[in-house]
Amino acid sequence: MALKVSRSLKENLTGSGVAPVVGEYERRYKNSQSGGLAEEKRGYKRFTDIYYDLVTDFYEYGWGRSFHFAPRVPGESFKASLTRHEHFLAEKLMLKPGMVVADLGCGIGGPLLEIARFSGAKVVGVNINGHQLDRARQLTEEAGLMDQVEFLECDFLDVDAPDESFDAVYGIEATCCAPDKVSIYGEAYRLLKPAGYLGIYEYILTDRFDASNPDHLRIKYDIELGGGLLDIDFIATVDDALRTVGFEILENRDLAEQDGPSIPWYQPLVGSGVSIASFRSSRIGRAITHQSLRAMEMLRIAPQGSARVADTLNLCADAMVEAGRLGIFSPMYFIHARKPE
Ligand SMILES: C[S@@+](CC[C@H](N)C(=O)[O-])C[C@H]1O[C@@H](n2cnc3c(N)ncnc32)[C@H](O)[C@@H]1O
Repeated sequence: MALKVSRSLKENLTGSGVAPVVGEYERRYKNSQSGGLAEEKRGYKRFTDIYYDLVTDFYEYGWGRSFHFAPRVPGESFKASLTRHEHFLAEKLMLKPGMVVADLGCGIGGPLLEIARFSGAKVVGVNINGHQLDRARQLTEEAGLMDQVEFLECDFLDVDAPDESFDAVYGIEATCCAPDKVSIYGEAYRLLKPAGYLGIYEYILTDRFDASNPDHLRIKYDIELGGGLLDIDFIATVDDALRTVGFEILENRDLAEQDGPSIPWYQPLVGSGVSIASFRSSRIGRAITHQSLRAMEMLRIAPQGSARVADTLNLCADAMVEAGRLGIFSPMYFIHARKPE
């Protein structure tokens, strides 16, 4: 399977090669950390696009078709928890047949297809990355949902759609890639019809994050570098941005904090899962993938740079586990907001 990922990576980056693109990506992130954050934020489109060119096949191989985390309860499978998280959003937005909905940053369309099937609404996936959209279109055809699903290849800060053209807008662990929250929520506001609902699963730093603690800073750095992010915001920045653009906040809470028995969202990255998907994402599964890629690079079967992509993702995965245990970060700050009438 690692061979399949590396082959796909090679095909996708035929023109440039993997190693130079990894190099550019790392340089950009490092520049953002040494005084060049504003410059890199201006170049966010390229930063995001090359990151997803590099990691998409690893994500699908290691995690599945839905590129997000989910709250989980004992006895619930990893896959069932992801689906429940997607249904939760669809229910909050009261999606139903006849509605037209935008998915901002739709990945390869795993959640979008599930939400379309579950709700009967028409879903338009917005994504800046062409490689992901090729895969999303293929999966949509396989699912026979071509009449109910559409894709727009564009920046989600400048969506190619008229004002007030959507009944609802959602984004799953994607708006964290925007250079600032006011711009992305402002675009969602423009796209929504009056009284339309917004639903977001946002990446946030919690109040426990201490910017003077070197360990916290290192963890944040690794999540960003490995996760294709330039800067993770605090909850207050997110809430303030929603109000600034005019949204009425109906509900905002961190779903990582569950009442009753629960399995932490970061558990699949630690291991001990029994499903193939969670084994591949676990520490042992990731180490096996890494070693296979190294060997294939030496044998010149995999393109140079493949193992470095896996290393960067591992850095992020380990940092997510640390962040989750310390409670300083969450990938599931849930926002349910409404555009006034
Ligand atoms: C972590 S993935 C989540 C994908 C999807 N929501 C899911 O849960 O499977 C983040 C997604 O946001 C997209 N994205 C990031 N920045 C974007 C931008 N400026 N415009 C459009 N899409 C963007 C990426 O291409 C990627 O598909």
